[in-house]
Amino acid sequence: MSPPGKGAAAILSALREQSGAPLSGETLSARLGVSRAQIWKHVGTLRKRGYEIEGEPGGGYRLGALPDRLYPEEVQLGLSTKWVAHAYEHLEETDSTNRVAFERGREGAPAGTVIVAESQTAGRGRLGRPFYSPPHKNLYTSILLRPTGSIADTPTLILGAAVAVAETVGAFVGDDALVEIKWPNDVLIRRRKTSGILMESSAEGTRIAFAVLGIGINLNIDRETFPDEFRRHATSLASEIGAPVDRIAFARTLFERLETQLTAHARGGFDAVRPRFEAFFRMAGEPVGIEEIGGQRIDGIALGIAPDGALEIEIVDGPRRGEIVRVMAGDVTLAKPTEDAR
Ligand code: BTN
Repeated sequence: MSPPGKGAAAILSALREQSGAPLSGETLSARLGVSRAQIWKHVGTLRKRGYEIEGEPGGGYRLGALPDRLYPEEVQLGLSTKWVAHAYEHLEETDSTNRVAFERGREGAPAGTVIVAESQTAGRGRLGRPFYSPPHKNLYTSILLRPTGSIADTPTLILGAAVAVAETVGAFVGDDALVEIKWPNDVLIRRRKTSGILMESSAEGTRIAFAVLGIGINLNIDRETFPDEFRRHATSLASEIGAPVDRIAFARTLFERLETQLTAHARGGFDAVRPRFEAFFRMAGEPVGIEEIGGQRIDGIALGIAPDGALEIEIVDGPRRGEIVRVMAGDVTLAKPTEDAR
């Protein structure tokens, strides 16, 4: 759905200022310098977007319930960012917000442009996996970046994004201790996945023309309703907290935290976000298994994160016992099972 237009936006902000008190059509018409008939038309536009507005043609108007939609006029309200989510495209449905953001990247859209969808028909995850994206429950967004630093720093952007997601999830769950980053970029609550990040980039010779950070966060979906393939390891904030999450406030906080982490990363690379990453990294000392991309399976004990973002693992059995392996990309299996007793 396209944005509400200037007239409707002006009416919305005038009604918001009333904090639920009525505003007469006459006042609105004088304030905005448009006819009462046009006011009525704009009110109709807002109602179609899901805003509850009481009132009759010629009478007073009162703003009631707001729609549970990630509209720009809601998320950008009070948003404190300097460059993230100033350009904001909201889609009711798309195949994949990463695909759309990639297209905007090619068209020259500015860094910080976000695409937000209410649902995705082909949401994609790492390693060619699907990302389940039912309508109006969760947050599916892609952010366009134009990294100017060293090409070597680009892969660790995803670790900075994971910090921002973990911080936001922690703030809404109300307890950072329940939240962890499963290297490189899944965010878990009580060891169940609530968020995944997929970064895709476009290179031009030896430089990155742009990168797209696609973030999917399960917010209000009931975890019992996940399709079988996801149910065992997936959860949502609402399922963990026992109450729905304000998706608009969540998106706003996420964009603010992303800006902080991505700006820090742009200035100082992974080093600059590493302390926060480590605050959510709880795998050290645990047995893990890794399917290396295009490589073999490694089983060992996770040691920690190297300065370049690699996961370091010590092999504890077999002929390679004692060897320390650095994994740059792969899929980690935590040997410690999901906690069911809660
Ligand atoms: C993963 O879990 O492996 C990553 C999942 C990333 C999903 C998000 S949802 C928004 C964006 N659009 C996509 O198609 N994928 C990412």
